[in-house]
Order: sequence, then C-alpha cells, then structure tokens
Amino acid sequence: MIIRRAPDIRSSEITPESVYVNRRQFIRAATAAGAVGMALGPRALAGEEAAQSQEIPARFARMTSELDEPLNTYEDVTTYNNFYEFGTGKADPSRNSGAFRPKPWKVRIGGECNRPGEYDLDDLLAGVTLEDRVYRLRCVEAWSMVIPWYGFQLSTLIDRVEPTGNAKFVVFTTVVRPEEMPGQRAPILRWPYIEGLRMDEAMHPLTLLATGVYGMDLPNQNGAPLRLVVPWKYGFKGIKSIVSIDFVEEMPLNTWKQQNSFEYGFYANVNPNVSHPRWSQARETRLPGLFKNHETLMFNGYADQVQHMYAGMDLERWK
Ligand code: MTE
Repeated sequence: MIIRRAPDIRSSEITPESVYVNRRQFIRAATAAGAVGMALGPRALAGEEAAQSQEIPARFARMTSELDEPLNTYEDVTTYNNFYEFGTGKADPSRNSGAFRPKPWKVRIGGECNRPGEYDLDDLLAGVTLEDRVYRLRCVEAWSMVIPWYGFQLSTLIDRVEPTGNAKFVVFTTVVRPEEMPGQRAPILRWPYIEGLRMDEAMHPLTLLATGVYGMDLPNQNGAPLRLVVPWKYGFKGIKSIVSIDFVEEMPLNTWKQQNSFEYGFYANVNPNVSHPRWSQARETRLPGLFKNHETLMFNGYADQVQHMYAGMDLERWK
C-alpha cells in the first residue's frame, strides 16, 4: 500500500483539533452506507489496520496529522455531492443512489488503440497497485474539499491498451441507467455525461482513476465503481461511473461545454484570475467552513506540476 500526500499541500493556519477525522461521524456514515465489515475485502489492510475495520483505517489518522490541510470527513465527502444522474441537489446523490448496482462492471475501451475491448473492471484492476492520493477538489461553483482518494494513475491503464499515434484526446462516458438513476429520467443534461482530456493531461502522473475514497470502495454517490480525478481542473472534469474510454483525434465536446459553452469550456483548469460569467473564482468556500473562506490557487495549487502543459496558451481564451 503506497500512501502519498499531494506533493504540495501547503502549510496553513489549521487548528490542531480540526486535523482529526471525526470518527463517530465516519462510523455513522459508513454504517448507513453498509460499508462497515465488507469494506476491507480483498484489498484488505494488513495486520494492525485490519484489526480496526470498524473505523477509519489507521493510516488516515496518521495521514491527517501529517497534512497541513485537514481532510474533509467521510460524511462531508459522501453527503455533499454533484451527480446529476441522481438529482441536482447536493444531498440527492446520497439519498437517491441506493438502487444503483456498481458490480459487476465492464469498461469498454475503444478508438485509436491497439487493444480495444470490453474489459471486466476486476480484470483491469488485477495487478494494479491501488494507492491513497490526497487531493484538493475545487468545484466550478466555488466550494472545495480535501479528499483521500483511493485508485491508480490513468496512465497505467493507457499504457496497457497502447494508444496509437493518432490518439490526441481521451473521451470518458458515464453509464446510462435511467431505471437506477432517477435524474436520467429527466432531460437535466443531455445523457450520457461525457468528459475528455488531452492525451498529455491523461498521462500526467497526478491524473487518477479512483475506485475508492478513505481506502474503501467508492460509494455510489461518488461515482462507483470508477471515476476520474484531475486535481488541477474544476470538479466537473471528474466524470463518475465510467463505462467507456475512447481514444480520438479531435477534441470531444464535453457535457458542460455542450450545455453552455459561454460559461464552461473543455480545459476547465482552476484559475482564480478568470471569473465565471456569473461569479468570481478568486476565492472558494472550503467546506464545511464559511462563505469564501479560502483563496483559490492557480491550477488549484498544482501549478508546479502542470503549468508546462499549457505554456504559450492563452488561459483566458482556453477556458
Ligand atoms: N459525473 C457525472 N456523471 N455526473 C455529474 O453530474 N458532476 C461533476 C463531477 N462528475 C458529475 C460528474 C461535478 S460538477 C463535480 S464538482 C464532481 O463530480 C463532484 O464529485 P463528488 O460529488 O465526488 O465530490
């Protein structure tokens, strides 16, 4: 098990108490989600940690005390969500996703690659080392959290399926199951939800395919069983419940750009200097805190690792 902190989570003004995950909240939330007990299945934590399966794995207590920015609680991460397939309210995904079945799961991989096919998620995960990655998540709506994802680098999967020289972008698609996803029974967005990355962004070591959070399987509301996490971009790039991954030559039309290209673009890099047409992006509300209590950082604080990919690009124009 590899534990990594986001390389640059900065020192800041955190009160010592706030660095501890609220264990009772977590147990309540985990019990409600049916996660306790089964949580530590095949990818079980060894020894010391397995013994504590009724609570946050011990490594998170260590991690939180090492970080300069506190982790959001399991309850924060799993009850305040955007997942329009289950409704547009922040509590809708946790309330309305109980009937969703993330197992078994297949992912179709296609387009410009040498090994296209329909893969069982279990087969895709065989031999992959899952790791904890603590990242900031900055929503375009100007709220943010610090989340301990569990997953693997997207580049690992891309290397396995051998994209051809024509692959310039990767397109991701969310499952369509209106019978299990009540939001899809209405034209809230044009379904399926689609997102994309440029090939170098997809191969970047920070780009993650998450299968879990807090070391346990992703709850449905967070995008079970597989979702994208791109920490320097607005949260809407983090497409959930992925069923297909395609390598293409042309920049795809992602859902939010299709919905409103005046307000949303393809790149969606976090940028405090470029306002959303209806609000400033200079500050954010770090949940569960108060209104705009946090400064927004260029590329969400990951500029040192990612800005070279955008050298020479006008970041105001390329929203
Ligand atoms: N993926 C799908 N399929 N549908 C959605 O509505 N919302 C996005 C993104 N992924 C969304 C989605 C938005 S706007 C955000 S901010 C993040 O998911 C929120 O992820 P979280 O709920 O796990 O914090």
